[in-house]
Amino acid sequence: MKKLNLLFFALFLTTVSFAQSYFEDGLSADWHRSRREALRALMPANSMAILFNNPVKNRSNDVDFIYHPNTDFYYLTGLREPNAALILFSEKRQIGEMEADELIYVQARDPRAEMWNGKRLGIEGVQEKLGFDQAFLYDEFGKKPVLNFDEFDKLLTFNLSQDIEGSSSNNGLKKMISDFKKASNYPEEVSEVRMQMYQMIRATDIENSANVAQIIGRYKNRYPEVANDQVLKDFMEAESPEKRMEVRAKVPETKTDIFALSQMMDVLREVKTAPEIELLAKAAKISAIGQIEVMKATKPGMSEREIQGVHEFIYKRYGAENVGYPSIVGGGNNGCILHYIDNDMKHISERLILMDLGAEWRGYTADVTRTIPVSGKFNDEEKAIYELVLKSQEAGIALCKPGVEFGEIGRVTREIINEGLAELGIIKTGQRHNYFPHGTSHHLGLDVHDRGGYGPLKEGVVLTVEPGIYIPEGSDCDPKWWGIAVRIEDDILITSGDPVNLSGDAPRTVAGIEQMMRIPSVLENWVLPEID
Ligand code: GLY
Ligand code: MN
Ligand code: MN
Repeated sequence: MKKLNLLFFALFLTTVSFAQSYFEDGLSADWHRSRREALRALMPANSMAILFNNPVKNRSNDVDFIYHPNTDFYYLTGLREPNAALILFSEKRQIGEMEADELIYVQARDPRAEMWNGKRLGIEGVQEKLGFDQAFLYDEFGKKPVLNFDEFDKLLTFNLSQDIEGSSSNNGLKKMISDFKKASNYPEEVSEVRMQMYQMIRATDIENSANVAQIIGRYKNRYPEVANDQVLKDFMEAESPEKRMEVRAKVPETKTDIFALSQMMDVLREVKTAPEIELLAKAAKISAIGQIEVMKATKPGMSEREIQGVHEFIYKRYGAENVGYPSIVGGGNNGCILHYIDNDMKHISERLILMDLGAEWRGYTADVTRTIPVSGKFNDEEKAIYELVLKSQEAGIALCKPGVEFGEIGRVTREIINEGLAELGIIKTGQRHNYFPHGTSHHLGLDVHDRGGYGPLKEGVVLTVEPGIYIPEGSDCDPKWWGIAVRIEDDILITSGDPVNLSGDAPRTVAGIEQMMRIPSVLENWVLPEID
C-alpha cells in the first residue's frame, strides 16, 4: 500500500466501503416487493415512508468495518449497499411525468471504485435484479422526480437526529438526509422521548389522562427535555382532567412521525414467511454443526480463540457470509460475563466453556449456545447446575405454542431456576439473586435481537429459549459453585403443532454432550508447525 501513487491513495481514501450489493441465493426480488406491499397496506392514507440504508462505519484510518445494511432497509429492498434511500407512497401517485408508488435512490456505478471494493448495482442493477421500476442516483434525490413533502399528511421515518460519523463514503447518505430534513421541515433537534410523551398525550382520553401525567412525571427526572417542555409541564401540573384535555389540544401536530414506521416494521418482521424460515433453519443448522464439531475437537489446553475459530471456520466452510454477532467463548469464570467477546484465555483447563455463536446465512442469523466441560466430563457441581438449566429450558421450549404469552416463557423458566437454586442451597427460598440476570427469549431474524411484539406467540415466530445460571468467583455461596456458568440456547420455530427446535442437532443433555466429546475430531490430524 505504501508504494501507491498519490492519485490512487486519494481514491482509496474516498472509496473504502466494503459493500455486497445483494444476495443472488437469498430472498427473491418478488419476496422483497411483497414486503413493501405489506408495509404499504399498514400505512395511513396519503402518507410517505422514507428509509435510508446504514452509513459505512470507520474502523480505523483507511479501513472501514465490513458493511452491514440496515435490516429494515434490506427487508424491504434486498439492497446491501450504502448511500441508498427508499421512498414508499401509501398509494400510487402522479409525480411529474411518472406514476409511481415507490422510488429508490442508489450510488452510481463507478468502475474505479468497484475495482477496489467490489460491485455496485447502480440504477440498472436495482431495476433488473431487485425489480424497482423507478430508480435514481442519490444526487437526484428530491429533484428527480421533484418531491413536495407538503403534499403528504404523514411522513413516516426513523429518528434521523444521530450524526453520521465516519468516512467520506457516507457523503451520498448525508446529502439525502440533509435534503430531506430541509424539504420536510424536520425538526432540528428531535427528542425521541419528548415525541413519545406527545404521542401518549394525543392518544389518551379524559379517564386515563391522570395516569399519563404520572408516567410523564417519572420521565421528568431523567430527561431534561421532558422537564423543560412547557406543554408537558402544563399537562403534568393541570388541576383537573378537563384542564389536562385543554393542554392536550396544544400538543404540536407533527407531520413527521418517527415511531409509527418502527411499529409497522415490528408487525411485519415478527412473523417469518416460509422463505425466511428456510434461511433461519439453515443458519441454525450450520451453527449446530459448529457446536458438534467443537464438542469433538475440544481438549484441555485449547484457547478460547481457537475454539471460536473452529466454529467460525465451519460457518465459512458452508458458505455463511458472517457471524450474526460477535462470538462469545468463555472458559470457566469468563462464562459469567454475559457478552464476553475478548475470548483471550490461552489455556482453558478443567472448566466449563460457554459458547454462544451464530452463523449469518443470507442475512438471517442463528443464536445458539452450548456449555461443555473441557475435560469431556461434567463434575458433580457442573452437572447439577447444567441439569437445572436444561430442565428450565425444556419447560420453556414446551411453552412455545401459538397463543402462549411471550412473557410466560420467562416466568416459568425463572421459577424453575429459582426453585432449583434453593434446593441446591445456593440461595435461600425466595431470596433475590443475580445468578440469572437476563431475559429468557427474544425474536430472531435479520437481527439477532429481532423486531417483534411481546404478546401472544404466533405461528411463524422464531425465538430463542436461553435460560442460564452464572456463579462468578466470590459469590455469596459455597465456593464449590464458583466459576460455573451455564447457558443453553436454542432457536425455536412456532408452528400450529409442536415447537420445532431449529438448532436441535447439537446435543443438549449431559450424556449427549459427553458422548459427542468422545468422538475423535478430524482436527486432531491437522498439525501446524510450532512457532515461537
Ligand atoms: N448472543 C446474544 C444473545 O444470546 O442474546
Ligand atoms: Mn440470544
Ligand atoms: Mn446467544
